[in-house]
Amino acid sequence: MAKSQRTILMLGAGIEQVYAIKLAKKKGLYVIAVDKNPGAPGFNFADESYPISTRDIDGLRKFIGKYKKRKISGVMTMASDIPLSVAILAKEIGSPSISLEVAELASDKLKMKRHLKKKGVPLPWFCEIDSLSQLEKSVKERGYPLVLKPVDNSGARGVIKLTPKVDLAWAYHFSRSYSRCGKLILEEFLEGPQISTEGVMWQGRFYITGFSDRNYSKLEEFSPFMVEDGGSIPSSLSKKETEEVNTVFEEAVRALGIDIGPAKGDMVLTKDGAKVIEIAARLSGGNFCDVKVPLSTGVDIVDVVMDISIGDPPDLKKFIPTKNLGVAERFFFPPAGKIKRIKGLERLADIDWVKKFTLYYRPGDTLPPLTDHTGRAGSVVTVGENVKQAIERAETVVRDIVRFEVEKL
Ligand SMILES: Nc1ncnc2c1ncn2[C@@H]1O[C@H](COP(=O)(O)OP(=O)(O)OP(=O)(O)O)[C@@H](O)[C@H]1O
Ligand SMILES: [Mg+2]
Repeated sequence: MAKSQRTILMLGAGIEQVYAIKLAKKKGLYVIAVDKNPGAPGFNFADESYPISTRDIDGLRKFIGKYKKRKISGVMTMASDIPLSVAILAKEIGSPSISLEVAELASDKLKMKRHLKKKGVPLPWFCEIDSLSQLEKSVKERGYPLVLKPVDNSGARGVIKLTPKVDLAWAYHFSRSYSRCGKLILEEFLEGPQISTEGVMWQGRFYITGFSDRNYSKLEEFSPFMVEDGGSIPSSLSKKETEEVNTVFEEAVRALGIDIGPAKGDMVLTKDGAKVIEIAARLSGGNFCDVKVPLSTGVDIVDVVMDISIGDPPDLKKFIPTKNLGVAERFFFPPAGKIKRIKGLERLADIDWVKKFTLYYRPGDTLPPLTDHTGRAGSVVTVGENVKQAIERAETVVRDIVRFEVEKL
């Protein structure tokens, strides 16, 4: 190993981080990976692996304090919502990162919304909920529809759309069971197209690299749970609408204080303009920044973020799209129960427009009732000459090609 080979610490080595670990190796870096799961798939590609939870800040700090073998140049993750772990470790090793204060704001939906509200960023109405009686009172005052969610989880865990049909006591306890700190937030439900956005802040400029329509066509079917069924690029919004969303996204990222590195936005274009559901101070997961955006535009921001994390100026040419293809993702939603067989998978290998196929559950596994994004059975990513074709192709795979046989619960 060359002496000059630089070292990156990767927080997380699960399937969501394998891409970053492999890319780091391709870029000639030495990779130290940590993950609470000793069997994490990314460990197979890293140079050194340690079974430490990415949320165990004390454990990570101790590890860094004792690690003398090599100088670590930077720290990063992707998909995992752990901005505080990343910022604290970056500070310890002296590598570029957002401040701890900003990481803390980004880790709590309530703190974030309060801060953004103070700065005048367009948001849904919201309030903190700390008891059932308070929830009942707020619902009476505001009226339906509303959204109740834990302040500190992700993957739509515990996120419930409140309508007159939903029992408030059930909703309160259900959502609370997903809150690490016990706090909940109640928000106005925003009507309008939902968009995922992503970008990188570098030397005062914000480069927006990802902009995708989100598909919530099954919202009624999955009610009261808010489960997204994939998305598509390029967005169907007009240029003007896209600019409107991007302006508010960037305004929110700056208001939050993200002055370096990645930011991901959950945005809604309402009839009163674009509004922010949340800003995450991290790279996206769910095939967005590593699969769908690169397939559509050729831009890979994981690469850029990696350079920034280790203190290298990124090559700004990497932000320039090199193509414009249609890309779509759709999910599999078989009924809950034991998966006996999955038919049709062998046909996917021969279809050149199927670019990625992922199974989160396999034959023999029991699929839980669908309440959040972790209960989706798998997904397919397709390309097309345009977005319409990509969507049709993804829907064909889900409807006609892959069949789950399930022993219902
Ligand atoms: N107030 C709202 N109005 C409309 N849609 C909402 C609202 N709140 C949440 N959603 C939808 O539900 C999704 C999940 O909510 P949120 O992002 O707050 O939770 P999460 O657990 O962080 O989920 P994820 O990890 O998927 O972003 C949002 O990305 C958005 O699409
Ligand atoms: Mg979110």
